[in-house]
Amino acid sequence: MASNRKVMVLPGDGIGVEVMAANLQLVDWLAKHKSLAFDISEDQVGGAAYDSYGTPLRDETLADAMASDAVLFGAVGGPQYDELAFELKPERGLLALRKEMDLFANLRPAIVFDALVDASTLKPDVVSGLNIMILRELCGGSYFAEPRGIDDQPNGQKKGYDTNAYSTREIERIGRVAFDLARKRDGRVTSVEKSNVMMSGVLWREVMNNLHEQEGGDVSLGHMYADNCAMQLVRNPKQFDVIVTDNLFGDLLSDCAAMLTGSLGMLPSASLGAPDPDTGLPKAMYEPVHGSAPDIAGQNLANPLAQFLSFAMMLRYSFGQAAEADLVEKAVADALASGKRTGDIMAPGCEQVGTDGMTRAVLEAMNALAR
Ligand code: IPM
Ligand code: MG
Repeated sequence: MASNRKVMVLPGDGIGVEVMAANLQLVDWLAKHKSLAFDISEDQVGGAAYDSYGTPLRDETLADAMASDAVLFGAVGGPQYDELAFELKPERGLLALRKEMDLFANLRPAIVFDALVDASTLKPDVVSGLNIMILRELCGGSYFAEPRGIDDQPNGQKKGYDTNAYSTREIERIGRVAFDLARKRDGRVTSVEKSNVMMSGVLWREVMNNLHEQEGGDVSLGHMYADNCAMQLVRNPKQFDVIVTDNLFGDLLSDCAAMLTGSLGMLPSASLGAPDPDTGLPKAMYEPVHGSAPDIAGQNLANPLAQFLSFAMMLRYSFGQAAEADLVEKAVADALASGKRTGDIMAPGCEQVGTDGMTRAVLEAMNALAR
C-alpha cells in the first residue's frame, strides 16, 4: 500500500530474520484494521549483507536508510563471521548506521510487565512495577573517538587502544534529551559516569550541571558513578527514573537493566538523531536490544516481543501514532497475561510457545482490543 511513511526494514542475521517476519505481520494488521499503511523497503545488513555483497553495509543501503522516515532493525552477528577482518564484521554495519545517521540518543526503556514479575531473577518486590529509561549516548565515546588502533611497539609488543572522549556539545545534546524525557516521566535524571577516575567523566558531570542550571530547573539531576549504578540497578532499580550515560557504560547498564525485566528478549530501543528543521522529526532507527542469538536462530524459539515493542516505539516517536503504539504495547501485555511464553520467559503453569505462537497471541490480543 502506498503511503508517505517510508520505513526501511533491515532484518539482519540470526533471530533478527524471524522476529522481523513476525513484526511485519503486525504491520499488515495495522494496514488492514487501522488503515495505517507504511511504504516498506527491505534490505540486508550485517552478516547477510556480507554474504551477498562482501560488506556489512552497502552505500545504497545507507542512502536508503537516510532517506527513510524510520529504520526498523532486527539484529546482526553470528559465529561464522568471527574470523572476518574488523571492518567487515556484521556489527560494523550497525555501528556505521548509528554513526552516519548521527543517531546519538539511544532510548532503552526497561519496563516490567505484571505477568513477568516472576520471570526476573530478582525478587518480585524489587522489580514489580519497574519503569525506568536508560538513555545511552550512541555516537561518541570509546565506540568511535580517535585515536584507536593496534600499533607495533619498538619492543616487539603490540599496543591496542581506544579513546573515551566527549566534547561539551556531545554531552549537552544528550543531556537535553534526558531532561526532555524526564519532563514526560517522573522528572528525575541520574547522570552516570566515572568522574572519580576519568577526565571524560569530569567534563561529563560539569557539563550536565551547567546544562541543568541553565535549562533544567524543572527536573531534578543527580549523579552516580557507573560501578555504583550497576550495583544500584540490581539492589533497588525503582530508585531511578531516567539514567543518562555514555556509550560504553550505556551498553553495559542496559544489558543489566534488561535482566530486571525477565529477559533480554523484552527490551526495545529507539535510536534518535536531532529533529529535522523542516519536519521536526528525528532520523530514527528502532531495534530490539537482544542480539542475533545464533544458538536458537531458525528454530521458532525466539521471543519477538522486544521487536514488537521497538515497533511500538517507532509508531510513537517517528509517526506520532500514540493510540496504535498503546495498542501494540497493551496487546503484548495481554498476550503475556494469557499465559503464553517463549522459552526465555517460561514460568511454571504457563504455556510454552514459539515465535509464531507468541506472534499469534499478540495478534489475537490486538483483534480483541480493536473490537
Ligand atoms: C547493543 C549491542 C551493540 C553495541 C553491538 C551488537 C555492536 O551490544 O546495541 O547494545 O555494543 O552497541
Ligand atoms: Mg549491548
